[in-house]
Formats: sequence, structure tokens, C-alpha cells
Amino acid sequence: MRKAKTAGFTLSAVRWYFSEMETLHETIFQSAADLSCLDSESVDLVVTSPPYPMIEMWDGILGEQDRRIVDAIQDGDGFSAFELMHRILDKIWSECYRVLKAGAFACINIGDATRKIGQGFRLYTNHSRITSFCETISFQSLPAILWRKQTNAPNKFMGSGMLPSGAYITLEHEYILVFRKGGKRKFANHEKSRRQRSAFFWEERNVWFSDIWDFKGVRQSLGEKESRQRSAAFPFELAFRLINMYSMQEDTVLDPFVGTGTTTVAAMASGRNSYGVEIDVDLAAVIDSTVQTVAGSMNERQIQRLHGHTDFVKEYQENRQRKLGYLNKPHGFPVMTRQEINLSIPIVTRIHKTETAQFRVHHEQQNDSSVLTVETKGFAHKPQSASQLNLALSS
Ligand SMILES: C[S@@+](CC[C@H](N)C(=O)[O-])C[C@H]1O[C@@H](n2cnc3c(N)ncnc32)[C@H](O)[C@@H]1O
Repeated sequence: MRKAKTAGFTLSAVRWYFSEMETLHETIFQSAADLSCLDSESVDLVVTSPPYPMIEMWDGILGEQDRRIVDAIQDGDGFSAFELMHRILDKIWSECYRVLKAGAFACINIGDATRKIGQGFRLYTNHSRITSFCETISFQSLPAILWRKQTNAPNKFMGSGMLPSGAYITLEHEYILVFRKGGKRKFANHEKSRRQRSAFFWEERNVWFSDIWDFKGVRQSLGEKESRQRSAAFPFELAFRLINMYSMQEDTVLDPFVGTGTTTVAAMASGRNSYGVEIDVDLAAVIDSTVQTVAGSMNERQIQRLHGHTDFVKEYQENRQRKLGYLNKPHGFPVMTRQEINLSIPIVTRIHKTETAQFRVHHEQQNDSSVLTVETKGFAHKPQSASQLNLALSS
């Protein structure tokens, strides 16, 4: 291994210590019911959240895709409306299955719905309807995540108040259903180093792979009133975690209901390529504005991961009075397991908008920290704030 102790290394040595990569992010404006624009077995991960059947805000867009839905709701036939809405989604899950590679994951965020149609108030169990359909097309069900979305709204309880027995439980959670196309993903020899640099920290594993997530939902700034009403964006953190849990750097992530582009920006921040599909062409400007809005803070979550890890190391070593057993090579800090020694966090250095809602993103990451001084261990440029990253959104 080449060692360069001080300034004045040759260019090739510097290149060896740092590497660059480029990712592409494309949005396709059409219904995801037909993804023939994507090859079979070309996608490494699906992260998505569909319009939720039987939640009123989605009646319009689903009704436009099948007029019988509108008739069923008008006729007070909630169950037929529910089934017809899911038949639209079924086609999209089948397309996701086709485009996913063997062993790849699909993570679907969905909530159930409670609704009174005609005289009948009932629960519409979207999560179980999607699970049974996905199993019929050969997706393997894996343990799901409950995303707890607690509300303090005073009117959150429905029904007969304090009198038995006509009050209803408040739904304060959604699901993240996890499916896999067949058995475990196989990694070719040439993919092994990419898999190792895509590792996550031991302490992140302990939180991310728990079955209850309780981060708060986030609001995103949206340009257009109509689109905001229809957005229902999920939090950046939800997409970011799933992408880092179930894919490797430079993999391709698909969101067939990309909406405002949350999955796109989470893929950018994670060093993955992405495809987004969206039926509502008005959201093109919203996706551009999502990218524009978060461009300056694109690396904040990755920097937070590094700070979180150094805090963890300090606390662990102080409390246990012993050092962690391994040294991470790219960042130069101790880690808990051998699997984390090549973990390298990618940083976005430039975002280039090639067309509306299409982006080319440059990333940089460290291969070896032995070149760094003690003060800069963690990151070559030791970025503390977004402005220091010199991130430019150019078009
Ligand atoms: C729950 S929202 C997705 C929100 C997204 N996760 C975000 O963070 O902004 C569902 C999206 O699916 C879109 N949609 C509905 N039917 C579709 C279809 N057949 N194909 C593609 N997109 C569709 C809607 O316009 C909406 O933007």
C-alpha cells in the first residue's frame, strides 16, 4: 500500500485515496402500470408509497384511472371501490416484480383506511390486500416495519366518545411492507468491495432493523397548491434508511409513485441511481424544486451519520472502558465489527440538471484515511456545514 505522509503526493496516489462516482436520476411521466420503458431484471430496489385506496384524497386520481371506482363510491359500495382501486395498484406491483433483479427488495409504505361509505363505517385493510396480492405474484414476504405516526389532534378519537361500545381505535401507524424477489441476492466477486463500502454502522443496524420506526413525518415545501394537496410525501429519512438498508452504492432504485421526488433525493444523497415514475405531469416542477430545495443540505444526513458514529464511539469507550475492536480505513475511526472496516460515506459534490426532473450527480468518497491528519479524520475536507461542501446545482 502506498503511503503519503505529508503534502506533495503524486496525482495517482491522491486518486487512490479518493474516488469519484456519478449517478443518474430520471423521472418518467406516465402511469407505472406499464413499465415497458424499463428492462426486466434491471432494478436493484423498489421504495415507494402508492395512493392509499379508500383515503378520500386519492379518490380523484384513482377514479380517473377507472371510472367504475367513482360509481361504486356513489352507490355506497365501499368494498367494490376498494377492490377496483387495488386492481390498479396490482398491475404496478406486477411491473415492479418484473423489473426487479433476482434477490432484490421492494419496500411499500402503506396505511390502512377507515371510512364511512353509505351507512357503513369500516376498516379497509390496504396492507393485507397488497401483501396477499404480492405473494400471489411470487414476492416473498419478509417482516414489515410499523411506522408510528402519533397525533395529538384533539379530535383524533372517533365514535361514541366515553360511552361503550361505539368508539373506534385511532389509526396512528402505517406499514412499510418488505418483499423480496426470490431468495437472497448473490454478489459477484467484482461487487464485493462495493458491498463493503455500502455497509452501515453496527449502531445504525440496531435502530434501522427494529420493527417500529417512530420518526415524525416531515412537511416538504411544494410550489403548487393543487400538488401540495395531493402530495402526501413520506419523510426523507424513511426513503434514506430503506435505500441504505437494502441496496448498495451505484445500484438503481425505482419509485413507481415518485410524487414530489423524496426517493430521488434520498437516492442522490446515498450514492444510488434512481428512476421515478409519476402519472401527474404537474409534479415535474415540484420534483425540480424538491431537488433545488435540498441541494444545499444534500449531505447533511451523511454528515450526521459520521457525527452520530463518533459520538457512539466516544460514549461506548467511556462507558465500557475499552476500545472498539476494528479500525475503519476510509474514515479512520474505530468501528464495532469487521464488516464496517471499509464502510465509506459518499458525499455529493455536484448536481447537474440535464432536463426537467432529470439529474446527473457527482459524488466523492474516501478509500483510505491514512493520508489524513488527525484533525481531518472522518472526512478529507471535514465538512461541518452544507456551505463548506461547495455544492452547486447547475443546469
Ligand atoms: C402517496 S403519493 C407518493 C408520495 C411520494 N412518496 C413523495 O414523497 O412525494 C402517490 C403518488 O402516486 C401518483 N400516482 C397515482 N397513480 C399513479 C400511476 N398509475 N402511476 C404512477 N404514479 C401514480 C400520484 O400522482 C402521487 O403523486
